[in-house]
Amino acid sequence: MHFLCSRAIALSVSVGLAVLLLGSCERDDPKPDCMDCDLTGIPYSPTPHSVLIPADFPQLEIPADNPLTVEGIALGRRLFYDPRLSADSTMSCASCHLPEFGFTDGKAFSLGVDGLLGKRSSMSLANIGFAYHGLFWDGRAATLEDQALMPVEDPLELHEDWANVVDKLIRSAEYPTWFRQAFGIKDKRDITKELAVKAIAQFERTLISANSRYDALFIRFEDFPTEEEQLGYDLFFDFEPSVPDAECGHCHGSVLLTTNNYFNNAIDSVGNLNEFADPGRGKVTGNYLDNGRFRAPTFAQRGADSSVYA
Ligand code: HEC
Ligand code: HEC
Repeated sequence: MHFLCSRAIALSVSVGLAVLLLGSCERDDPKPDCMDCDLTGIPYSPTPHSVLIPADFPQLEIPADNPLTVEGIALGRRLFYDPRLSADSTMSCASCHLPEFGFTDGKAFSLGVDGLLGKRSSMSLANIGFAYHGLFWDGRAATLEDQALMPVEDPLELHEDWANVVDKLIRSAEYPTWFRQAFGIKDKRDITKELAVKAIAQFERTLISANSRYDALFIRFEDFPTEEEQLGYDLFFDFEPSVPDAECGHCHGSVLLTTNNYFNNAIDSVGNLNEFADPGRGKVTGNYLDNGRFRAPTFAQRGADSSVYA
């Protein structure tokens, strides 16, 4: 229930129209009185932000309706680390995406707010803005904006209701100002989940990792690799004829160390393609030939020692 609508609800109960009027608490309808909800006194002049993209990286595609601004990124960062996004205020996005683990949690399966074990492993968010072939292991979310809607209501993750989250944000001391500065809303009650996920996506697009030892040694040639590092590189990318080919680079290739495509690595032994406990990509495309395929990830460790988080 929308707390700011409580007066409208009390009124409505008296005339027996509770259900009708509850529905009318949506933001487009005339708003009930609100003492200090007007935000127009706070200046709105967002500052465009251009992310520093390393020269050898692909283009960072930014949706036309969600340009990066300093204020939007700052808001997204706050939301990302805010436990108010969870049912019992114990967890945030960052509980499973820790910067020190390349934005994963370093676990095989992540634990949600109810202490329930998730079904998959948390994924690195290093260079996540460049993942253009779908998000999640199975690619079921198309954009970072779509993706960020999901963990809040996932029973195995934050297990909260977006309407409650939005209420908490409206009621908080600072968020209305931050939403005003980022998106120019005129009234506290104009905060929506759609704006919240836009801000989170803006923040995520700045998580660029290009400063690991790998980058220094093999992309920028700033230092000499040890013998073992060179051997690993040659095995990984099949570059040296005298060294056997490990073929890793086909799927974990490019400067991002991933092609972002979906593969079946034959990790699970099954009698046929319909027997996978987790069908992965196949559940999303509906094509049984995609069963058992998962997205080739970038390497979390690469983010872990990175200092470039613009
Ligand atoms: C309980 C742990 C947990 C929490 C909390 C959590 N995540 Fe995740 N995250 C995961 C797991 C596990 C996956 C992979 C799930 C899958 O493939 O089904 C994932 C995947 C992702 C991905 C996809 C990455 C890729 O490479 O495709 C993004 C982006 C992401 N999370 C962002 C967020 C944001 C934003 C929040 C907060 C709103 C959040 N996560 C909260 C565990 C968590
Ligand atoms: C055919 C494509 C392909 C090849 C070749 C390949 N991988 Fe992968 N790799 C994947 C996929 C897909 C995953 C996701 C796990 C899965 O399959 O369920 C993965 C997962 C990983 C992970 C886990 C990353 C994480 O965040 O959990 C590591 C590490 C890894 N691969 C390293 C390698 C190495 C080293 C090689 C070469 C010896 C290699 N891979 C060859 C596709 C590939």
